[in-house]
Amino acid sequence: MVEELENILKDATLAISNAATIDELDKLRLTYLGKKGIVTIIAAKMKDLGKEEKPVAGKALNKTRTVINDALDVKVLNIQEAEDRKTAQNIDVTLPGTPMPRVGRHPISQMLSESVNALRRMGFSLASGPEIETEWHCFDALNTPADHPARNESDTFYFTDGRLLRTHTSTVQIRTMQNSEPPVRIISPGAAYRRDEIDSTHLSQFNQLEGLYVDKNVSLADLKGTLEYLLHSIFGKNTQIRFRPHFFPFTEPSFEIDILLQAQGKQPKWIEVAGCGMVDPNVFIEVNKSRGDNNYSPEEVSGFAFGLGLERLAMIRWGISDIRLLIENDTRFLQQFA
Ligand code: PHE
Repeated sequence: MVEELENILKDATLAISNAATIDELDKLRLTYLGKKGIVTIIAAKMKDLGKEEKPVAGKALNKTRTVINDALDVKVLNIQEAEDRKTAQNIDVTLPGTPMPRVGRHPISQMLSESVNALRRMGFSLASGPEIETEWHCFDALNTPADHPARNESDTFYFTDGRLLRTHTSTVQIRTMQNSEPPVRIISPGAAYRRDEIDSTHLSQFNQLEGLYVDKNVSLADLKGTLEYLLHSIFGKNTQIRFRPHFFPFTEPSFEIDILLQAQGKQPKWIEVAGCGMVDPNVFIEVNKSRGDNNYSPEEVSGFAFGLGLERLAMIRWGISDIRLLIENDTRFLQQFA
């Protein structure tokens, strides 16, 4: 058998060195090492050999297999290399290359990480919630009565099962308080959806950053300090910020925060970037009902909440006059932020 194997190896080596294409080599691999290959068939005969012959033949068999296999691999590589070299010779290195667009982070992502970084420095941690929500999380738990305009079909995207695309990230306030004990200090960035007419300052899907801080003795001064620090660290200390009294069902008192937008070649204009306020006691009461305890007792804890619009922040930061530019994926626009 050893002799037989030696002959096979000789034949194989010759055939491999004569082969000129990868196709031929693939065939040779099958002929010798395949399931019905020459070497495989011989291997099957091993079991008929005597005790003394077996180890010698086994060694020879392994060697034959390895040598043929290696020879095939080396030859395949050689042929591939030769082909690559040929292709490379036909390349005109003086032709201009394919331009690689300069890429950078999208303005919204930049605003997001700057806001998150500033808020983390103040001890906020990240929380999240689903974009498809129940009416209870989006409205009822947030003290929003049945006749509130946000609950209208024409203002909100409803599913047939009664759930909806959340109209704001304030739903995460509720989910957080349902699942953790006070004190809580969380932020939650994410998408919000409204049936708004799309124009230069409105989109039907946009990005909010929600914040909630509940503890003993949280005051309006804490709210103002936190948001001023946040907005100044994004826009610089000289940015003009104003708190304008407003109404939200789930905060009392409530404010909207405006920032002065100075877009190039345009009149300076106040732009609303956030809603905020002190958590309404009714929200705590509703949360307690669903938890079945009184851990968020309005007598014991107080809190503030805010919701920022990230698109608006980006528009102010870079003087972008049309919000739609942020979703058009026009590289001529996006490259400016690289
Ligand atoms: N959810 C409000 C909105 O989308 C913003 C807000 C958040 C207001 C938290 C007060 C407190 O307009």
